[in-house]
Amino acid sequence: MVKICCIGAGYVGGPSMAVIALKCPAIEVAVVDVSRPRIDAWNSDRLPVLEPGLDAVVRACRGRNLSFSADVDRHVADADIVFVSVNTPTKARGLGAGRAADLAYWESAARVVAAASRSGKNKIVVEKSAVPVRTAEAMERILLAHSGGNGATFQVLSNPEFFSEGTAVRDLLCPDRVLIGGRDTDAGRSAVRALRDVYAHWVPEDRIVTTSLCSAELSKLAANALLAQRVSSVNAISALCEATGADVSDVARAVGWDDRVGDGFLNAGVGFGGSSFQKDVLRLAYACECNGLPEAADYWRQVVAVNEYQKSRFVRRVVSSMFNTVAGKKVAVLGFAFKKGVSDTRESPAVDVCRGLLGDRAHVSVYDPAVSEKQIRRDTASPAAAKAQAQQQVRVARDAYEAAEGAHGLCVLTDWDEFRTLDYRRIFDGMQRPAFVFDGRGVVDVGKVREIGFVVYSVGKPLDPWLKGLPAVA
Ligand code: NAI
Repeated sequence: MVKICCIGAGYVGGPSMAVIALKCPAIEVAVVDVSRPRIDAWNSDRLPVLEPGLDAVVRACRGRNLSFSADVDRHVADADIVFVSVNTPTKARGLGAGRAADLAYWESAARVVAAASRSGKNKIVVEKSAVPVRTAEAMERILLAHSGGNGATFQVLSNPEFFSEGTAVRDLLCPDRVLIGGRDTDAGRSAVRALRDVYAHWVPEDRIVTTSLCSAELSKLAANALLAQRVSSVNAISALCEATGADVSDVARAVGWDDRVGDGFLNAGVGFGGSSFQKDVLRLAYACECNGLPEAADYWRQVVAVNEYQKSRFVRRVVSSMFNTVAGKKVAVLGFAFKKGVSDTRESPAVDVCRGLLGDRAHVSVYDPAVSEKQIRRDTASPAAAKAQAQQQVRVARDAYEAAEGAHGLCVLTDWDEFRTLDYRRIFDGMQRPAFVFDGRGVVDVGKVREIGFVVYSVGKPLDPWLKGLPAVA
């Protein structure tokens, strides 16, 4: 029986291994993590990751050929194929701070694999984390340095994950493509074949693409950078739409009809979030910088700069619309996750918008159907000195109506479907006058809520007469 072990039981490791276990009953899959609470959660009825369909997949395989364990060393030593799916955040300090990858978790995982090599068993090591280009080479060096004469050999492959949070299970079951990068040697090709055989249990052969190690690593960064760039492009257009009276939805639809452009990822909004986009764009820019390509680096950095601009533009719009002051005013925030269907708040625009409003001394009342109060409080906490005050300024509501009760303004910051069908008349009746709606996700029917009596701002849409009269903020 082939044995697979995955280091890192996070958003990627958990779902991707659960699907392998589901589709390959003859393969034993162990997902390991240094975090005991995470492992306990995977072994409980409340999984640590919210993904439609994931509970059923885990229930079908857990205890059969899928296990979650904190005994990292043992499972790595036993495995034929070791996936490395640890977090690779952006460095907070030191060389390349704010731009380069922090590879501390990744290196500690590499060392665990190296130490386990003492068992003498040959292994295929699969890089699943999004890593800087040529990280696989570094992995090979660490493994080689440790293998010291026990006869164990390693093949390192790159197999980046492309699923989208919120549709992870669907994407894993029917991927657009599975990418496998490996060495062009006999041993490299045979390792690629072994991994290909795993995916071939359910992925059509023509969707399993093989490349060099380096191309696979770069493809992951490039894919996220191009998606983020599309969002920033349409968001830059949204600012011009507001200035000229054009409607960004009409523009995006007209542009998207062109087959060469396509209609995906053209929704204007308050900005992109999630753990990957910003990190991977910055990583790509850093790679350009390190390879003597400053112009290319600047180009990619601008994608992140426009995203920051879009978030601060939104906050400025809220403040200026409400007579240039939100101090002491209650502002309802609907949605805190970075997108609908997930409880993940990493890099969520809602975090920055709330911090901006709190900085202007607003009181925010947040409602999100999936994010816990603890998480909202953690994300909105300010630097230590202002912490106590910030805690009082933040309220977490049980539903949208409670959040909006007595509020001066209401911001929609996540595209949850339930926000499309709210009783906006009831919300309006409970709010102060004038009552403002600031829609950062294009979910509100502008005509309808304007008719109810709201002053409405929706990113990239023609401005409400009220807002037109105000000094330009963009
Ligand atoms: P995560 O933070 O949810 O999970 C990583 C896990 O690795 C954590 O539970 C941590 O405790 C564990 N870990 C770290 N070092 C370890 C070690 N030495 N031994 C054992 N466990 C260790 O991260 P996530 O979101 O799963 O991301 C993993 C990688 O996948 C990242 O490189 C990310 O860029 C990439 N990725 C993420 C996607 C997403 O939607 N979140 C999509 C595609 C790729």
